Amino acid sequence: EIFHATATAPVNIAVIKYWGKASTKLNTPTNSSLSVTLSQDDLRTITTASCSPSFESDALWLNGAAHDVSNARSQACFAELRALRKAKEDKDQSLPPLSTYKLHLISENNFPTAAGLASSAAGFAAFVRAIADLYELDESPTELSRIARQGSGSACRSLFGGFVAWEKGSRNDGYDSVAVQVAPESHWPTIRAAILVISDAKKGVSSTSGMQATVATSTLFPNRANTVVPARMDAMKKAIAEKDFESFADLTMADSNSFHAVCLDTIPPIFYMNDASRAAIRVVEEINRCAGKKVAAYTFDAGPNAVIYYDESNQDIVLGALRKGTADVPGWTEKQPHITACLPE
Ligand code: DP6
Repeated sequence: EIFHATATAPVNIAVIKYWGKASTKLNTPTNSSLSVTLSQDDLRTITTASCSPSFESDALWLNGAAHDVSNARSQACFAELRALRKAKEDKDQSLPPLSTYKLHLISENNFPTAAGLASSAAGFAAFVRAIADLYELDESPTELSRIARQGSGSACRSLFGGFVAWEKGSRNDGYDSVAVQVAPESHWPTIRAAILVISDAKKGVSSTSGMQATVATSTLFPNRANTVVPARMDAMKKAIAEKDFESFADLTMADSNSFHAVCLDTIPPIFYMNDASRAAIRVVEEINRCAGKKVAAYTFDAGPNAVIYYDESNQDIVLGALRKGTADVPGWTEKQPHITACLPE
């Protein structure tokens, strides 16, 4: 007898970055963050969770390869989800005892895992969503985000579509460190993201170890986490509420630069951007200068690939200039909340 459920979770790209852990055990952040979730049609993970009395151990396959689940992060997610299922079974004795069965997870990404495209975010979000569906849990996405956070911080934001904040929380047990939807996708449906894949090589310094080194050594970091980001979170929520692209762009680019500045201020320094990344920044600056206003915003995560946000109304100028200005970079893919197009043609 086998029980199963399938769920998908999209990638999210932060415009106010999570960088720094308050507790490595609870995986709580030093600052709140905010992201835009891409559409399900674009970059996403699809996961089938199954459980059976005949399974001998918990197991996970990602794109066909077996992955270790003995790590503390996966174990925390399994344990929390089983506890919720157990509580449900205790209330209703007629339910099959799925909480006592081992789990098998089969996961597929529709994008290269090593491309530095926030694969852990979609991965752990789909992991949690699939098991929650299998267990028929009634918990809200925010409640599930508390579990996904323990798998990978950025994953908590991928349980929602649209514009999503991860509020850092103030409790010592991490209970209020959860994701909340700031606005649904329908609030600002014309926002687009183009992803410039500069390199699909696996990143040099993982975000987990990089952010710990930054917290431990950067003298710029406390100012970012305690002063700069809290003000930016408020300003970003206002920009989104007002669909004010120029403010959204200013804040997004400033926060990406601030994040990469604290990386450079880490000992030893961490370099995620390369010459092609900096060329992409110059193209965006040039696009905005020619337009006489902010029509495009760049942001970079823990790798060299650029994500460029723009409004659909400016698609031709932004993508046209990006294609021309970055013609020499290996290849890039445009991914959008609604429409998917692959570039170059
Ligand atoms: C630069 O969520 O991968 O993408 O919690 O250690 O798994 P862990 O870190 P992770 O860090 C993502 C960092 C970032 C910024 C962001 O997504 O907010």
